[in-house]
Amino acid sequence: MRKALFFFLAISGLTACNSAETPATTENQLPMDVHSSYQRSEARVTHLSLQLNADFEQQILRGVATWTLESNAADTLWLDTRGLVIVSVTDADGNALEHQLEAEDKVLGSPLWISGIRDVSHVKISYRTTPGAEAIQWLTPEGRAPFMFTQSQAILARTWIPCPDSPGWRFTYDAEVEVPKELMALMSAENPTERSADGVYRFVMRQHIPSYLMALAVGDVYFSKLGERSGVYAESDILEAAAYEFAEVEDMIEAAEDLYGPYVWERYDILVLPASFPFGGMENPRLTFATPTIITGDRSLTSLVAHELAHSWSGNLVTNATWNDFWINEGFTVYFEHRIMEAVYGRDYSEMLSYLSLVDVREEVEDFMKTRPDDTRLKLDLAGRNPDDGVSRIAYDKGYFFLRLLEETTGRERFDDFLRGYFKAHSFGVMTTEKFLGYLREHLLSEEEWNAVGVNEWVYERGLPANIPDVVSKRFGEVFSSIKHEVMDENRCPKNTENWSTHEWLYFLGQLGQLRDAGNDQINADLLAMLDSCFSISKSTNSEILAAWWLLVVPAKYTQAYPAMEDFLVRVGRRKFLTPTYRALKETGQIEEACRIYSKARPNYHFVSRQTMDELLENCQGI
Ligand code: BES
Ligand code: ZN
Repeated sequence: MRKALFFFLAISGLTACNSAETPATTENQLPMDVHSSYQRSEARVTHLSLQLNADFEQQILRGVATWTLESNAADTLWLDTRGLVIVSVTDADGNALEHQLEAEDKVLGSPLWISGIRDVSHVKISYRTTPGAEAIQWLTPEGRAPFMFTQSQAILARTWIPCPDSPGWRFTYDAEVEVPKELMALMSAENPTERSADGVYRFVMRQHIPSYLMALAVGDVYFSKLGERSGVYAESDILEAAAYEFAEVEDMIEAAEDLYGPYVWERYDILVLPASFPFGGMENPRLTFATPTIITGDRSLTSLVAHELAHSWSGNLVTNATWNDFWINEGFTVYFEHRIMEAVYGRDYSEMLSYLSLVDVREEVEDFMKTRPDDTRLKLDLAGRNPDDGVSRIAYDKGYFFLRLLEETTGRERFDDFLRGYFKAHSFGVMTTEKFLGYLREHLLSEEEWNAVGVNEWVYERGLPANIPDVVSKRFGEVFSSIKHEVMDENRCPKNTENWSTHEWLYFLGQLGQLRDAGNDQINADLLAMLDSCFSISKSTNSEILAAWWLLVVPAKYTQAYPAMEDFLVRVGRRKFLTPTYRALKETGQIEEACRIYSKARPNYHFVSRQTMDELLENCQGI
């Protein structure tokens, strides 16, 4: 009977109908994951029931995590934790269970084992987080409402929930969260749109998700409807701007469904976080977490929404088995993102994004080849390292160009059919690099095509293969010629810039940087002052443009722009912007300036950004 039921669930999982429960995983074996102690567990869990209380004063979560065991035949359960205080562990009736936290590993935290669970159906863990819990940022700004949010990917879920913290294991959850009455709580689950009277919120996530997609945010946010199944949450002062910025999300969802099959998560909402959010976006299921720095007033940075939405298939539906397979999440998602943008805004637009991807990945590869060449391979080896080390342009953009090459080799129609079949066949499952390659060989590429692409070289070797697709962007071609003629030859500001989108500006600024790196001394503080007087770039409200601008400003020591740069670095905690700016300061003999700004800005950064900047600016201690 059990078997038959499992079979039924497995099949319904494959077709992934809307609100139906889905199987824990379509695999019966957990892939080898060096970043999780769940690996050692005999027992398997299928559902989490979470009770939490958010204490803003002490900056801790207190709660109970009750795990449902898949069968009660095993004797020991191993879960991941880090910095958690375990208060008690019992079965459903309150009988104490033997348990212990193992010694802390610097990267992985302290595994928790619970034994004597034969014949036990539920394991109930009372615990609390500690104020430094790495996933969580507590913000209590003066004169503003408090805010807290979590960021679980890659292995930080264990800092706020004792859990099987591996992308290779999925579970459903429900939660009851108590927060200060004036605030609203939201999770990666079915969400409220109104405040509750008593500050208690209940959540259900019926689809099986891996731990890195567990998310919670608490803040003074309000909801605004976008489409039938989409909306945005934000603090009241930016809600309207956010609703305008994301108005086209329904078009994106439809474009995505036309490409690769139904959206199975029912709703797609976006939560706009405070500017200290360390990422651009995070694909928490049903509720993308997004940085406010993409709200520009002109909808020019919404490819980020396309990206997080695309993860609803690549990542959340078919999940990288381990962090070594990270490109399976991000490479597919960048490919899908560009396809959504092409469908909604046209090929010229998406080719600009692709061109910028190409520039990014070339730079990253060149840089990595000097210091960490093995990290330029798609399939990573992160054993003994923090999986955060694998977050680079390689997974994203080398992954993207590999998939684009597959498309160009087989033709779009065959490739799209293949991808539709891939998402359907592996829904709510996990994907290793090897399994994908097997599927690719079986369902798409002939031996001849396989060899022509050079699949093994792309996946397992360093650098960028010679057959990387070429991107020709007409729009950037025009920008290039104005750099050459107007800026370089005639030393004046380019004229026809009214129609430039954000992406043309990014290309323009990036090209000037390349010319400087190639030794062109025309790219100096005088030139920047001239450009700034024509275009007020230092006063731009577009964060991407600002971040690209600082990379010219810093090496040229164009100090008039430093106050604006300092404001930016203090206000924004998005790591992608911080790392290159601080690095530029450091590498151009301005470490004192970097340290001075960092000491002021650091309190506002989330742990993820702090960790990276602490490492980059380690010398600041002595300064
Ligand atoms: N899932 C990632 C963010 C992430 C990756 C968090 C690894 C922790 C570890 C998210 O989908 C992402 O890729 N965000 C990008 C935006 C995107 C448009 C490339 C970002 O934050 O910049
Ligand atoms: Zn992503």
